[in-house]
Formats: sequence, C-alpha cells, structure tokens
Amino acid sequence: MARRKKIALVGAGNIGSELAALAAAQELGDVWLFDIPEKLGVAQGKALDLEQQSAVLGFDVQVRGTADWDDLAGADVVIVTAGLPRKPGMSRDDLLSVNLKIIRSVAESLRPRCPGAFVIVISNPLDAMVHAMKEVTGFAPERVVGMAGILDSARLQLFLARAAGVSVKDVRAMVLGGHGDTMVPVPSYATVNGVPVQQLLAADVIAAIAQRTRNGGAEVLKLMGTSAYYAPAAAAIMMARAYLRDEKRLVPCAAYLRGEYGYQDMYLGVPAIIGAGGVEKIVEIALDASERRMLDESAKAVRELIAASSLGKAAGNPAGKPAAKPAE
Ligand code: APR
Repeated sequence: MARRKKIALVGAGNIGSELAALAAAQELGDVWLFDIPEKLGVAQGKALDLEQQSAVLGFDVQVRGTADWDDLAGADVVIVTAGLPRKPGMSRDDLLSVNLKIIRSVAESLRPRCPGAFVIVISNPLDAMVHAMKEVTGFAPERVVGMAGILDSARLQLFLARAAGVSVKDVRAMVLGGHGDTMVPVPSYATVNGVPVQQLLAADVIAAIAQRTRNGGAEVLKLMGTSAYYAPAAAAIMMARAYLRDEKRLVPCAAYLRGEYGYQDMYLGVPAIIGAGGVEKIVEIALDASERRMLDESAKAVRELIAASSLGKAAGNPAGKPAAKPAE
C-alpha cells in the first residue's frame, strides 16, 4: 500500500499554521509543524488542535509539532515560512539580513534530511530567500521554488472581479517579476472567462487596480499589523498539491531562470508548469514593450537584492544579451 506523503512546514507561525490546516483538510499527507525550541509548545499545541479538528471535519492525516530536524527527514514537500514577517512601514527588503541568516541555517538543516523534497519558500524578501535556499541546499532548481506569483495574482484577480462585478472564479490574471514594489501585473493576459478585461473595464480602472495589487501586501499589513497569511498559505498549498498530484498547473511562481526571458541564474516570478517533476517547464509569454520594461526593472531590483545578500556571484547576468534590453 502506498504510504502517506509527508509535508514538513518550517515555521509554525501565522502562515505555518494555516498551511497545516489546509494541508490536513485536503489530506495532502501527514504534516510536521516545525519551529524553534522556544516555540515547541506552540507547534505541538497547534498540531494537537488540528488533529482534534480532524475528528470533526473527518480527515485522515496526522499532524505533529516538533523542534527536532530529524523528524522532517524524508519529507516529500517542505514549505518554509521561518523568519520574521514585516511590521507596518517596513518593506519586504528590510527583512533581508535577519531572514537570510535564518534561511541559510534552515537550508543547512534540510540539505542532509530532505534530499528528495520539493521545497517551497515563502519567507521574505522572497526572491533572495529562495535563491539562498537553492544555493545552500544545492538541490536541483526544479525542486526549489518561491511562492509569490499566485498570491499577487490572486489579489489582482479579486480586485478585477470586484470592479467588473463578476465572480472571482471567472477571472484569470497574472503578476510576474519580483515579489516587491517592482512586481509586474500583466493585464494584457487578464480575462473574465476568456473575455479580455479591457472590454469590461476602463484603462484607468485597470491601472488603479494594478497599483493596488502592487500594494496588496502592505494594505493588509497596515490593517492588522502583521503580514497576510490566509491567501499566502492557500497559494503555497496549491503549488504543493500540483507537485504531489502531478497536476501540471500553469502558475506564476519564483522559478530559477537559465536564460529564459533573457535572465541567467536568478529567481524571478514567471509562469511555470508544476507537476511531479517540480517546476517542469518555464513558459515564456510575449510581453508588450512596457511590460517587458517593467520586468527588466523588476529583475534588476531582484539582482540587487541577491547581490546585497552576497550570494549573488554572477546572478542575473543575461544569457549573452543585456538583461535590461526591452523586447521589441
Ligand atoms: N527555524 C524554524 N522556524 C523559525 C526559525 C528557524 N530558524 N526562526 C524563526 N522561526 C519561526 C518563528 O518562531 C515563527 O513561529 O518562524 C515563524 C514565523 O511566523 P510568523 O512570525 O507568524 O510569520 P508569518 O506571518 O508566518 O510569516 C513568515 O513569510 O510572508 C513571509 O514576510 C513573511 O518572512 C515572513 C514569513
């Protein structure tokens, strides 16, 4: 009989506990909620609470809390939220030095124990953290990915749905680039069940929605004093499920580029197909000149972040052509 899959969640804070709840409710596998020794009781308490919830909702998985890395050995999926979240007024980049140290140590602990895992990084600043995770673990880039695009796209989709007065289920839209102020909403690909949003909403409304999307995380942060967790957790679970069930979902995520879009050896939010092979394919879509310019700006900001984290080496050097060159 096939064994249940093993999901390791590193960080049992706001996002970690919502990840655990969703992974358990969707019966993706047995869940290990890991945190630092000082938070062991919190991790164990949340795990027990969720197991008790399973008796009400009726799902057959185990949820355990731990501070022992060895409990994560052999995990099929690892989702990393370890680190500090933003406080109001902070940018994601302000978290760089403190979260980088945490991610590097997490990566060192994962390297010998979870060599076959699909690793999804959520900690911010996302693009630099996922880069560090790949560098330190040495895992194949197809199996180390960052969650941001689905979240940013969900914000864009919601705002478009509300403005157009349609169900959010019918809106498809993508946000590419880095997970920061330079992210690139691409309304040219946004549709309501195939109808281009440009036929339903005025250009200035779409532009305002794109701007609200860029500010989407800060808007939640300002309201509740810490960063969002329901939508980020749902987005990462969508990626985990796509991998575990070989769903071949085409989703925007921070994927490692080796020449795609003209960028070399760096993570950037792009459309990718996630299935049993991890990031199975990066999909290169045509962008108009202004979208391309914005993507180049965003890639530049990500490269600077990676350089600031002194992991950069040659990160982001374009594949034989200048990265900043907009497509015609
Ligand atoms: N190993 C494991 N867990 C750690 C470590 C570590 N070395 N260092 C910190 N943690 C844990 C904290 O103890 C805390 O329980 O990470 C958890 C983070 O939880 P929250 O503070 O609630 O933060 P959360 O909202 O979940 O966001 C986590 O994701 O979106 C990003 O910007 C956000 O970087 C932040 C991360």
